[in-house]
Amino acid sequence: MNPKQRAAEAALEKVQSGMILGLGTGSTADYFLQALAAALKSGRLTNIRGVPTSRQSERRSLEMGIPLATLVECPNPDLTIDGADEIDPKLNLIKGLGGALLREKIVAQNSRRLLIIADASKSVPALGVKSPLPVEVAPFGHESHESFLRNLGATPTLRKAQDSLYTTDNGNYIYDCRFSRIDNPEQLQATLKTRAGIVETGLFIGLAHEAIIAGDEGLEHRTR
Ligand code: A5P
Repeated sequence: MNPKQRAAEAALEKVQSGMILGLGTGSTADYFLQALAAALKSGRLTNIRGVPTSRQSERRSLEMGIPLATLVECPNPDLTIDGADEIDPKLNLIKGLGGALLREKIVAQNSRRLLIIADASKSVPALGVKSPLPVEVAPFGHESHESFLRNLGATPTLRKAQDSLYTTDNGNYIYDCRFSRIDNPEQLQATLKTRAGIVETGLFIGLAHEAIIAGDEGLEHRTR
């Protein structure tokens, strides 16, 4: 079993029958969906409903027979299980390489708990050292953000998909912003969010309650 799958299977132990779950996006979250679907099929878990964080996780859940709900029907999921692109020692995160950062953040901020599942490559001493920071922007005038982002120390790249621009589930674009290191994620988040046209960033600060990180030496459980 690969590390992402081991983390996902360990997360299933935190799930109890009757829970409303936020369902994350990405390959690690997909392993969790598979484990959840198997537990529902075997009857080990019952009466679960999931709030998906993307069209992709919605489609995968429907394929696997996981009952779904909207945030309107279930405004406060008991537990959201999601992957991450980077995890720092304080459990702050970079998310969004899979493009779902806005819906992931909306579901996470409404959840009672956010559990992150990842392999050990996602654990970093400081955010930004490995992954670019995805920044979701409205299409109108999006080119104007490039110099703004450069002035903050980033090297921004507008995300592409084959021959066109990558478009999020919300109809927006993403600038992947390469920093050498993000020393003050709170300040960066505040600065980015003051700019009209920047819809959301992949900085998840103070949102994660725990993480299960699978490495060669086994599972590391981190809590905040
Ligand atoms: C999706 O938008 C991201 O936030 C994912 O959580 C992230 O990219 C993790 O993906 P993997 O589990 O595929 O590494």
